[in-house]
Amino acid sequence: MQSVQLDISITADDAILWRDNALHLLDQRLLPNEERFIRCLDAVDTAEAIRAMVVRGAPAIGITAAYGVALAVRQRHALAPEHWRERVERDMALLAGSRPTAVNLFWALERCRRALDRLEGGDPFPPMLTLAQQLHKDDRTMNRRMGEFGAALIEGPTAVITHCNAGGLATGGHGTALGVIRTGHAQGRITQVFADETRPWLQGARLTAWELVQEDIPVQLMADGAACARMGEGGIGWVIVGSDRIAANGDVANKIGTFALAAAARYHGVKFMVAAPTSTIDPDTADGADIPIETRAEEEILSCAGRPVAAAGAGAWNPVFDVTPAELIDAIVTEKGVIPNPDAEKIAAHLAD
Ligand code: MRU
Repeated sequence: MQSVQLDISITADDAILWRDNALHLLDQRLLPNEERFIRCLDAVDTAEAIRAMVVRGAPAIGITAAYGVALAVRQRHALAPEHWRERVERDMALLAGSRPTAVNLFWALERCRRALDRLEGGDPFPPMLTLAQQLHKDDRTMNRRMGEFGAALIEGPTAVITHCNAGGLATGGHGTALGVIRTGHAQGRITQVFADETRPWLQGARLTAWELVQEDIPVQLMADGAACARMGEGGIGWVIVGSDRIAANGDVANKIGTFALAAAARYHGVKFMVAAPTSTIDPDTADGADIPIETRAEEEILSCAGRPVAAAGAGAWNPVFDVTPAELIDAIVTEKGVIPNPDAEKIAAHLAD
């Protein structure tokens, strides 16, 4: 992976760029202090960028993987025109192994596999690049639609709470939860955002706050443990979050701490919304107990911004997602519309529509 500076003014919607025949990923580990890109030339670079959190957020991971397959196809076809398919299969397995929870990764790889199966003769790279670019563009369009559906649920004017980062940076552009917030703010329904800082990677403090400040949307950061008390103060209409995987029964995996937020919201009578494209719904996972939850290194908890913060000798438990039961969710919003009080029957009907 090569770190490069691009001579452009960067917004949250520029997290994934195809330029100069290479994939450029805004290095989200460095934001908001530095705006640099990682250049990926093959699937190995791309898988490592996903694993190392250069790019993160479920839809963004899926789109990146599709570009990774296009890079693999270009490289393998050039080096071994007779055997490129087997080698691309190995590259796709590497991409699939980069992170386990966000189902958008596996969804995008499946779309690529189907496209590869349909290819006949000729250079396979142009159609695979076109597919990645189409998935990227479609995601942006879906997020705008989701923004409209989600914002319409908010009576307002009110303040909202969000967790982690489900914005332009986490998607192909505009964002899922932050897409609803952007649209809701533009319509005068949302006046103020309280964002959890989201330890240990600080996606809320570093990324969500960066996006909202760029958009001139008033944002106040909170320690993760403050959200329940903030709801108790009043004036919060909704909690709005994204998701990494939604099970067939409506249970939602999202950044660790989301379940606690949903439980606190129910206690305080605050509504709870999940905004995610239908590619985040996994009909093959019956319920939340079946969702694979990624556990990352203890070091991420024992240190902050690269500096040790814990007593020497302490261990750490670092699951990076949790599962919010469907019964705590007032609405799941997708590009197709709203699923109120989700359950297995409503999810199946929504997907079949
Ligand atoms: O570990 P991350 O930063 O990839 O986790 C991201 C989240 O949990 C987001 O809330 C989720 O992917 C939705 S992004 C539109």
